[in-house]
Amino acid sequence: AGGAVLDQRGRGMRDLRISVTDRCNFRCIYCMPREVFDDDYPFLPRRELLSFEEILRVARLFAARGVRKIRITGGEPLLRKHVENLIEMLAGLDGMEVTLTTNGVLLPRMARSLKDAGLHRVTVSLDALDDALFRRMNDADYPVEKVLEGIAAAKDAGLGPVKVNMVVKRGTNDGDIEAMAAHFRHSGHILRFIEFMDVGASNGWKMDEVLPSREVVARIARLHPLEPVSPNYSGEVAERWRYEDGAGEIGVISSVTQAFCSSCTRIRLSTEGRLYTCLFAQHGHDLRGLLRSGAGDAQLDAAITRVWQGREDRYSEVRTAETAALRKIEMSYIGG
Ligand code: GTP
Ligand code: 5AD
Ligand code: SF4
Ligand code: SF4
Repeated sequence: AGGAVLDQRGRGMRDLRISVTDRCNFRCIYCMPREVFDDDYPFLPRRELLSFEEILRVARLFAARGVRKIRITGGEPLLRKHVENLIEMLAGLDGMEVTLTTNGVLLPRMARSLKDAGLHRVTVSLDALDDALFRRMNDADYPVEKVLEGIAAAKDAGLGPVKVNMVVKRGTNDGDIEAMAAHFRHSGHILRFIEFMDVGASNGWKMDEVLPSREVVARIARLHPLEPVSPNYSGEVAERWRYEDGAGEIGVISSVTQAFCSSCTRIRLSTEGRLYTCLFAQHGHDLRGLLRSGAGDAQLDAAITRVWQGREDRYSEVRTAETAALRKIEMSYIGG
């Protein structure tokens, strides 16, 4: 076995995103609204989670099929006990880049050990610079300062350049775009603005609340002229822009207004071992059952390639108000 596989639209499989927990210490209003993710929410019990050994076994098979990049996500991945052990195991795969997306508050404590484990880079989410607004958005009373300390810790540990993700919700935090841009100019970090997406089934997404990236770029460029930068690699999600005065680079991720499905090489492994071929999928494919029933590598590999070869997803190209209302899988379970 081994070698590249293509899906129904000719796309290869390059990036594996692994969710290691469905829990989070934040309750971001666009991701885990408190009304839904409350004290009674049925988070997965421990025995349901894939073990690190199970994850490594699956990751090895993906590597043999062309995956070169693994992103650890959640929920909040730093809440998973001993996650640095998993990183060390995955970073040991030949030629694999291992990155992680986090809300940042545990980085001051963990950045050093993550780096030592072999983590290459981190992406940190931060939706506002205004403290009261940020607390409202994470809905768990975390101050901006905690996240900024996390970003600094990542940089100090050598996990930079740090990418900072800001989800823009029109009417909520779009007033902070310029302040965020100003803050991260000259910092060496790369701020990326993400269009608010209709992931999951509980975030109340409405098209009116999407601020097109084109407007974000225009608003920043009015203050500090920007020029486009070519992608780092084909299929890169973020469109890159550089300040003409040399203050650094920003990015925009326009899943709603400029879909990038035609080059989407991502596959997602959920916390409990289901494979999802799209962020907006309604159904996954169980791998854990196979893993725990004694399947051999050939059988697992066959299941993985069958899922990828059958893939037709292009959700962002066909999104409508009707599709937005479908019961899609939650982002906190499948990972960004
Ligand atoms: P790097 O270039 O290695 O930093 O990876 P990346 O640009 O994919 O970064 P990251 O994984 O942080 O992706 C940024 C954000 O883009 C995610 O958190 C999602 O919000 C969004 N995103 C990533 N992949 C997809 C995708 O396949 N579909 C859609 N619609 N959005 C995505
Ligand atoms: N729309 C856009 N981005 C989202 N994220 C989470 N939910 C949404 C959404 N509905 C972002 C997080 C994080 C990344 C994993 O995805 O803020 O930066
Ligand atoms: Fe947690 Fe990230 Fe979702 Fe916010 S966006 S609730 S930090 S998983
Ligand atoms: Fe890939 Fe689905 Fe996102 Fe399109 S909508 S880019 S197919 S994950």
